[in-house]
Amino acid sequence: MTFEETLKARRSIRRYKDEPVAREQIEACIQAAILAPSWKNSQTPRFYIVQSPEIRRQVDQDGLAPFNAKNAENAAVLVVMTFVRDKSGWGNDGQPANEGGNSWGWFDLGLACENFCLQAADLGLGTLIMGIRDEAALKRILGIPENEVAGPVVALGHPDIDPVMPTRHDLADAAKFE
Ligand SMILES: Cc1cc2nc3c(=O)[nH]c(=O)nc-3n(C[C@H](O)[C@H](O)[C@H](O)COP(=O)(O)O)c2cc1C
Repeated sequence: MTFEETLKARRSIRRYKDEPVAREQIEACIQAAILAPSWKNSQTPRFYIVQSPEIRRQVDQDGLAPFNAKNAENAAVLVVMTFVRDKSGWGNDGQPANEGGNSWGWFDLGLACENFCLQAADLGLGTLIMGIRDEAALKRILGIPENEVAGPVVALGHPDIDPVMPTRHDLADAAKFE
């Protein structure tokens, strides 16, 4: 796929085939996420790959909104994405460098997450970013350290649906050339 084709091929997939994804493909998506830029190269995103059926059951039950668990039901894996807080967007003096504070950690996690999703799309795989999740439950189930903030749960699997792209702004609505 060309870069533009990959950009357009990525969709939020809310129905998956009950098929595994090869470990190499999961790793390729994580590697793509690791290539994302970050504040002072602080590289704070972390990835928890849920493969065990028992942990998956707990994440489905307590960590996700029921509609999200249903939509991701057959996805091969769930990836819980976190970032180490108080690093991205923070100065060497241990203080926030500007008004953004830990928003920069969220920003970096978003960049990593998008790389992950684009790599998956390029491999013909589907993803669903799920922001409606329960951080406390995810941290408890996965033993995520206290100094990490849990972001989205991302489903990864083989699409069983080919959704049309939801409408996007025209360039003139989103950009202002001065
Ligand atoms: C931060 C974030 C959180 C999201 N949370 C959810 C979610 O909890 N459940 C869901 O079904 N989709 C979720 N989405 C997917 C968006 O609804 C989707 O990206 C948007 O409608 C555009 O569709 P597309 O991804 O196919 O381009 C989320 C997307 C982002 C970026």
